[in-house]
Amino acid sequence: MDTYYFDSIDSTNVKAKELASLGAVSGTTVWAGYQSEGRGRLGKEWHSVAGNGLYCSVILRPELKIEEISKITLVTGVAVGKLLAELVGKEVQLKWPNDIYFSGKKCVGILAESSPLNIEANERYVVIGIGINVNQSLVDFPAELRSTVTTMYEEAGKKFDLEKLLYALRERLISQVNMFEQHGFAPILAEWRRMDLLLGREMECVDVQGKVVRGVSRGPDSNGNLHVESIDGTLHRVLSGDVRLAAKK
Ligand code: BTN
Repeated sequence: MDTYYFDSIDSTNVKAKELASLGAVSGTTVWAGYQSEGRGRLGKEWHSVAGNGLYCSVILRPELKIEEISKITLVTGVAVGKLLAELVGKEVQLKWPNDIYFSGKKCVGILAESSPLNIEANERYVVIGIGINVNQSLVDFPAELRSTVTTMYEEAGKKFDLEKLLYALRERLISQVNMFEQHGFAPILAEWRRMDLLLGREMECVDVQGKVVRGVSRGPDSNGNLHVESIDGTLHRVLSGDVRLAAKK
């Protein structure tokens, strides 16, 4: 289980996928001090401040059916969320599907990417990309992000060793995925729901077709898909897309 560090790289997820397709074993990890093209979900950029954030990607080869793979993002959220809550000493909130918040502000983003489905079962992999705002101060971020992001340092009032954090994170992630393989999704979903930022709150969701759904979040179901109840009582299932809290009227 190798660990590769780069002072600077385009994206740790891109590198990890390359290594995975060359046969890297489960647990192999890529991390970097800076990413020039850090990627988020839905083609968004992940702002990678040099030297003070943790930007890493872990290759996993879980023994799961294809339809279970999409739940890995939520499984990762629980693993990372619980670790950060312990280290920072505050509760975290999880925002479906993949963000971790402290005090209503984003601290972590997760981008899970799977191998193409048409490759041999024994060659399949998932790359779990995790970006954590660790030792940055708010002034390190562009002005337009400062009201919506936070860092472990801002929340805990102390700095963290990035390498120690990386190894703790990988250990938690692997053991949470082992639990998922052995005991299924239900116990992990129950934990996820206890940390749900949006549950019962009015929100807006833009689905993949660009259609805006406005309603109250009912949380993820047993498949990991979000349910949103619109004003007329209709339940909408959200597979993907962008979700945000509705603006107060
Ligand atoms: C999101 O918030 O939309 C997900 C952000 C994921 C960022 C991490 S940083 C390490 C890894 N490499 C990337 O290019 N992206 C992920």
